Amino acid sequence: MSESAIEVGVLVGSLRRESVNRKFASAMADLVPDRLSFTEIALDAIPMYNGDLEPDRPASVDEFTDTIRRHDAILLVMPEYNRSVPAVLKNAIDWGSKPPQANVWMDKPVALAGISPGAISTAAGQLHLRQVLGALGAAVLGGEAYLSTRSEPFRPDGALQDSVQEFLCDYLNRFADFAGKLRTIEAVR
Ligand code: FNR
Repeated sequence: MSESAIEVGVLVGSLRRESVNRKFASAMADLVPDRLSFTEIALDAIPMYNGDLEPDRPASVDEFTDTIRRHDAILLVMPEYNRSVPAVLKNAIDWGSKPPQANVWMDKPVALAGISPGAISTAAGQLHLRQVLGALGAAVLGGEAYLSTRSEPFRPDGALQDSVQEFLCDYLNRFADFAGKLRTIEAVR
């Protein structure tokens, strides 16, 4: 019996129209499409976290948290800003963590990826992100996936070069296995 594809919500930690991280997310969507189905969850409309808004949360925040809940798994694709998590993504994570009894990240399968110009790409930012998600109880896939734009990882048509496809396919197949196991456990709970 073949399993249905894992529904993956993709958060891109950059609002830029020409974001290379969005391009990266879109190229990854084509790598294992039978196993992982990607849908971007936009962050543009989410206001800065403000506890004063909690009694009557903005509709954009409710829509965001409902969408995170509906997805089997979440892929976070981000640049790093000053060796850490871009504020737009951290802000969305913060909204999703409140109130604690409705924390959308608890036990959610999550994988991280990123691309930036630096030689060590988004490695340092991903460590900060992993720390935040660990505190929130997310089930974060082990391993690392980041690219440097210096290695020119895209073909002219936007697809990923063969040289990086293999390790990314391995990473995404591991994510599909991991999220699939957790989905099965959730289904029998
Ligand atoms: C950056 N950039 C960057 N790059 C990096 O590799 N390490 C870093 O710590 C930082 N810090 C940083 C801070 C700020 C405020 C900005 C605006 C940028 C460069 C960044 O990774 C690069 O601009 C990426 O192309 C941004 O990703 P998108 O928007 O193209 O997805």
